[in-house]
Amino acid sequence: MKFKTIEWKGDRVRILDQRKLPQEIRYLDCRDSSSVAEAIRTMAIRGAPAIGVAAAMGIALAAKKERSPQTGPFRKAIEQVCNEMAETRPTAVNLFWAVDQMRRILDQVHTDRVEKTKAKLIKEALRIYEEDVEINQKIGEHGKRLIKNGDGVLTHCNAGALATAGYGTALGVIYAARDEGKKFQVFVDETRPMLQGCRLTAWELVQEKIQATVITDNMAGVLMMKGKINLVLVGADRIARNGDTANKIGTYSLAILSKWHHIPFYVAAPTSTVDLTLDSGLDIPIEERDIREVTHFQGRPITPKGVKAFNPAFDVTPHSLISAIITEKRIIRKPSHNNLRKIFATPNSLPVRQASKPRTRNSKEA
Ligand code: MRU
Repeated sequence: MKFKTIEWKGDRVRILDQRKLPQEIRYLDCRDSSSVAEAIRTMAIRGAPAIGVAAAMGIALAAKKERSPQTGPFRKAIEQVCNEMAETRPTAVNLFWAVDQMRRILDQVHTDRVEKTKAKLIKEALRIYEEDVEINQKIGEHGKRLIKNGDGVLTHCNAGALATAGYGTALGVIYAARDEGKKFQVFVDETRPMLQGCRLTAWELVQEKIQATVITDNMAGVLMMKGKINLVLVGADRIARNGDTANKIGTYSLAILSKWHHIPFYVAAPTSTVDLTLDSGLDIPIEERDIREVTHFQGRPITPKGVKAFNPAFDVTPHSLISAIITEKRIIRKPSHNNLRKIFATPNSLPVRQASKPRTRNSKEA
């Protein structure tokens, strides 16, 4: 990739400010954990795996800068930072998983002492970062066979390098198919209201010299009817154990359209996105964001004063509408409780990434 979404710089965390793209390439140098939390909250960095990495690096930064040499106060201070990170956004499970990984290391402080724990927390954050890139490349390798020469591929939101530590999940599949020499066309949903598709995915594809056509979200149906779309490829923020999948608002509508037009609908996601604590998508907390994201455009009102608006950031696609989930382990066709269970069945593939119940301060149930 020609750009870095997030970087550990030793004394700071450098984040490519996605609010400014594509007009401006600007980096945020976060010198404390609160600025990392703020970057997640305000979507300077976004995308399920990327916010997990950012949270881990934010915690590592806080540990590095914490002055207290004593175990008790050190632990209390970093525990508070873990809580702050877990409060930033409620839907993507990767965030809670990453915070849990860091908490596990923090728990060892009693036997390890403070200096050793600091080093281990930094190492863990970097491991989470590096592992994410490797996982995405594996997702790409598994998924590339689903794209054929001449296909039209439709994607929604941004599930690329910008949404991860690098390479991407849904876009990772597109990169892997491109690297194999396949020729196909990519259609990018604009993705109202935050425009992750036309601002971020389109920018990423331009950087990668992949031809793409941007459409507004309400144009997908007509393209499908005209036979221009052969498959839909999206990412995921959280997958319940029956395969129901939360992803960017509008994903569910695309899945319904795909079903009607008999077009395969694929979700590309690491197994860490599967939340085994949840029976179904009904249990996934859905973030509701400021209504000004809907009522305003670039700071200007586009609706009459006083009108109400509804702004859920995600929706849940039932597993029955999903043709397959592409993971780093393999492709899970017809995702269901049984089919998903198989991937976690062998001792070596137990979900060490299983997340604890997240806090849902500013969230509502789907
Ligand atoms: O609100 P966002 O931009 O964080 O939402 C991101 C998405 O919905 C992505 O599709 C998802 O996180 C998968 S990213 C690999």
